Amino acid sequence: MKKISRKEFFKKTGVITAGVMISPALAGSPMPAGNAKKTRVGLIGCGSVSHSYLPHLSACPYAEIVSACDIRYERAVAQAGRFNIPHTYPHIDQMLAGAPFDLLVNLTDMQEHGRLNKIALTAGKNVWSEKPLASTVEEGKELLELAKEMNVRLWGAPVVVNSPQFAFMAEAIRTGKLGKISSAHAHYGHLGPTWSAFFYEKGGGSLPDLGVYNLATLTGLLGPAKYVTAMTSIVTPVRNTDNKGEVKVEAEDNAMVLMDHGNGILSHVQSGFNYFDPYGHTGTGQDRPTVLIWGTRGNMGLVGYDCAPFGVALATTDHEEPVRHANDALGYVWQEGASVVAETLATGKETLVSAEHSLHVLEIIEAARKSGQTGERIRITTKFKYPVI
Ligand SMILES: NC(=O)c1ccc[n+]([C@@H]2O[C@H](COP(=O)([O-])OP(=O)(O)OC[C@H]3O[C@@H](n4cnc5c(N)ncnc54)[C@H](O)[C@@H]3O)[C@@H](O)[C@H]2O)c1
Repeated sequence: MKKISRKEFFKKTGVITAGVMISPALAGSPMPAGNAKKTRVGLIGCGSVSHSYLPHLSACPYAEIVSACDIRYERAVAQAGRFNIPHTYPHIDQMLAGAPFDLLVNLTDMQEHGRLNKIALTAGKNVWSEKPLASTVEEGKELLELAKEMNVRLWGAPVVVNSPQFAFMAEAIRTGKLGKISSAHAHYGHLGPTWSAFFYEKGGGSLPDLGVYNLATLTGLLGPAKYVTAMTSIVTPVRNTDNKGEVKVEAEDNAMVLMDHGNGILSHVQSGFNYFDPYGHTGTGQDRPTVLIWGTRGNMGLVGYDCAPFGVALATTDHEEPVRHANDALGYVWQEGASVVAETLATGKETLVSAEHSLHVLEIIEAARKSGQTGERIRITTKFKYPVI
């Protein structure tokens, strides 16, 4: 089975390392004057994804990266050298006691997010977290409460709602182009990361790593899920990883999730770490839709993956031949989240991404796992602001 090595991964996802792109929001905004407020950023977790975040964040006019932290300290030092970051730390406590900053950007292992986010919020820092926001919904709710108490902000990846393709699809639904919406499908998978074992250990899994994008897109377009039913499985019981060698796979690496959004709308998400996919993680070169929505008067498909889309094909009763729209990313990239919220903190300009939406997606993931084990249909209780746009 062909696996994605760290090196191949970077080759395929080199969008950002090859040339920095800034979100439309940032690109369209005037550069702040020399003395304009910048958000001071402390970044924790200097592994794989930091190679995508740091070029974007270091080019963001609203961010100043003051510190880098990693328990594998040499990684913090290496990234600090590459991106001119003045302070480095081997532990979050030292980082919090060191050079002052406003926003913690958390890019650590999925199992560490909730714990580190809580420490940072308690210390009065704003937090941008990679997905998932927390390890459990209960922990996530506590974090949202804590952020309110401390009068700071909390946000979580992914940022799929920021893409122009999402905006086009949301508008098509809102203006009735598809008639009455009935169904949707989304999928995202590849052969699984090889560099770190945490993706396969308890608290990891293909749902919080990959399915999370589709769940955010479909709930963002169709509304919060009211019920979830799912099947999950482990296809490859043992994985070879760069940091821990052979590990037993404990989290699902194959998932099928059904959502009931109310008003008769049903949707389906599938994700996994056992999908042969010649287009890699971000779907470079892929020209097929991965998110499909059907209504009584039309259907549409988001071309490419929802984390890196490059068009929407729309067919309606008035024009049955699909027409491609929203063919430009307008600078949107999946790794723009920390830069976008740095702008929010610096200027007050709001973003579409919300902690409530991240928490809702986390509840769906938790429910999908429970449903997979018990066969139950699970009621979902969290909500977020809908419509998103
Ligand atoms: N790799 C990607 O392209 C990618 C893309 C999108 C999202 N993500 C998400 O980003 C997160 C990190 O993934 P990754 O691929 O970069 O993993 P990684 O293993 O390459 O990097 C994680 C880093 O965090 C550090 N770390 C772990 N615990 C820490 C702690 N308590 N304090 C300080 N540092 C700590 C590790 O030493 C490691 O360097 C995950 O949530 C993943 O789902 C990754």
